[in-house]
Amino acid sequence: MAATSGSNDPPIGESDTTGEKSSAWRIQPIPPGLINKPIDYIFAEHNRQRDSTIILLMIAAGEFDKEGVTKLIEFFEVDFALHIGDEEVALFPLLRQHCLPEDKIDRILLRLQDEHRKDEANVEDIIDALKRCLAGEPITSSTSLQLRLFADHIHSHLALENGVVLPIARVRLRGEELKVLTDMLKQRRSN
Ligand SMILES: [Fe+2]
Ligand SMILES: [Fe+2]
Repeated sequence: MAATSGSNDPPIGESDTTGEKSSAWRIQPIPPGLINKPIDYIFAEHNRQRDSTIILLMIAAGEFDKEGVTKLIEFFEVDFALHIGDEEVALFPLLRQHCLPEDKIDRILLRLQDEHRKDEANVEDIIDALKRCLAGEPITSSTSLQLRLFADHIHSHLALENGVVLPIARVRLRGEELKVLTDMLKQRRSN
């Protein structure tokens, strides 16, 4: 993803000829009703995390959009944390319950949980950096590196979850388990 626009395009973050902001600053919403297909829902949330990394890299490269940065802070404060809980409270226990020994799921999930703890520790620093950016402070080289490393970490985490965990979930979790997963995801959003 290029952080700069083509020669005929407006700079990223500024209005184009239709008056709409560049979609590069947007974290796409999850389609209504997708929660009833819970694995697709989790996959869609991963796509939103991927959107967030594109924005992180644009900010790291010195781009700025007030609304985009504000929404990114909201995303990390709310949705990012909610998703980690979705996996640890709902998806992972179901996988432990229904996977077969040959899936070797325990080892994978332990690694992912360890990465979640690092995410939770690092995301606070990332939010602080984004708030400083919003307050008008220029991005330093160390902050830029910090944002890039966090984006890299999200990418590698998503690769393991999308490439290994969700394919196993699609095989091992069926009818009733999927319904249980949907119910748990809905319950976590009802409070
Ligand atoms: Fe995930
Ligand atoms: Fe995760």
